Amino acid sequence: MIKLLIGSNNPDKAQEMQDILQAENLATILLPSAVQGFPAEIAETGATLEENAYIKAVTIFAATNHTCVADDSGLEVDALGGAPGVYTGRYAGENASYAENRTKLLSALKGVPPEQRTARFRAVICYHDDLRIAFAEGVCEGRIAESERGEGGFGYDCIFIPDGFDQTFAEMGAVEKHRISHRGRALQCFATLFSAYQSA
Ligand code: IMP
Repeated sequence: MIKLLIGSNNPDKAQEMQDILQAENLATILLPSAVQGFPAEIAETGATLEENAYIKAVTIFAATNHTCVADDSGLEVDALGGAPGVYTGRYAGENASYAENRTKLLSALKGVPPEQRTARFRAVICYHDDLRIAFAEGVCEGRIAESERGEGGFGYDCIFIPDGFDQTFAEMGAVEKHRISHRGRALQCFATLFSAYQSA
């Protein structure tokens, strides 16, 4: 079976992608073990998640010649006109920590009532093999909490409450998060595409 190279140098995202794909019975390999010395960062110069996922997949495929999946993801907050969107990872500045990004978001939403704190996580997966480039997308609707809650996950997990739940992503188990998350949905959709490619 082909091992899918997971094209992310963010260990939190790579771990999630690996767990989700393994649950779909797909074999994976992580980028650092595949390519020693591969650049730690691929510049996200695209204007959209699709463009950034494409840039990552094409760069990784060119460097490795290995079937790969890359992901770009973002958080769109309605009260902020869809920000931080494509800038989610660097909302509080180029090398901002997860905590700095969350603090900036919570202060931008200070005083905004719960019903106006609607938001969504979006993930775009770009797949690249010898024959094709394909995309899959997943969206998870929810809202931004008033303060941080929970210890699990990473990034904005402790301030994102998915629709239908009272818990934040950080208060859920990983399996439950992956079942409904943007990344889980995008990769479940990708897994269906991939199995069609395998039997074509
Ligand atoms: P990128 O896809 O590498 O551009 O990163 C987007 C940023 O979005 C990450 O650095 C995280 O801060 C955030 N992010 C993406 N997915 C998740 C998630 O599942 N939970 C929490 N934060 C996330």
